[in-house]
Amino acid sequence: MTATLVRSRTEAGVMSLTLARPEKKNALSVPMYRLLTAALEQASANSAVHVVLLDAEGDDFCAGNDIGDFITLGQVDTPLAQSEVFRFLRALASFDKPLVAAVRGRAVGIGTTLLLHCDLAYVAEDARLSTPFVDLALVPEAASSWLMPARIGHVRAFALFALGEVLDGRTAASFGLANAALPAAEVSARALAASQRLAAQPPQSLQATRRLMREPERMLARVEAECVAFAERLASPEAQARFQAFIERRAR
Ligand code: COA
Repeated sequence: MTATLVRSRTEAGVMSLTLARPEKKNALSVPMYRLLTAALEQASANSAVHVVLLDAEGDDFCAGNDIGDFITLGQVDTPLAQSEVFRFLRALASFDKPLVAAVRGRAVGIGTTLLLHCDLAYVAEDARLSTPFVDLALVPEAASSWLMPARIGHVRAFALFALGEVLDGRTAASFGLANAALPAAEVSARALAASQRLAAQPPQSLQATRRLMREPERMLARVEAECVAFAERLASPEAQARFQAFIERRAR
């Protein structure tokens, strides 16, 4: 059952990972994080995989972390650092092959911050990217507290994190979060074509180039620092109240 939450398919050097929980706007649940981490580990170990393409089923890319899971994670005794969420964030930060993303519709929280780890990204013109961490009484994750201001500038990043500002696809591309903003119907095909072009390049050169452009050790250190703050926030009454409000609003 859980295997269908993330579909994986490898062809001509491109591993396509498709988030497949459209009825929940592809909100990432614990089993989905587990599947994504395993897929990245397989992609890293398999020399036949040159590129990983992240896409999603349905109208929305990803509504962020499953909020019901946030409630649980804030209440259990297991350290957050050992959770599937943070296992995935470490796997993402240390992944060693090119990542490409195709984003249509909503990309909330991790749906947007994972773009900071992608080497090419294509977004729909009318996509809606947001990272409303403070709205949820949380803090940024996936090393985005460092990568986002470095990419788009401090004041823009702060407005995303602290005010929950939403970027449309065109603005996101103009800020440097994506290569291009396209009509929604063209996004997946364009991202696949770009992935296939990458996969045809000399793989060692591709990986070495990527390695030179990233600082995985620094990213991992930031992921751990964020984890400490995130764990404190998750367990806080103000965050638990925000999660509960979301769940109850849905239930009404
Ligand atoms: N966690 C758990 N369930 C989620 C979810 C999330 N992050 N995002 C959406 N869903 C669920 C909704 O509860 C709803 O479930 P239901 O049909 O069983 O009631 C379903 O997905 C559809 O979502 P809905 O809110 O009805 O769609 P919408 O088009 O009105 O709004 C969003 C879409 C993404 C704007 C809205 O769902 C939302 O704000 N989600 C939370 C985003 C968020 O804060 N994520 C965490 C970031 S750190």
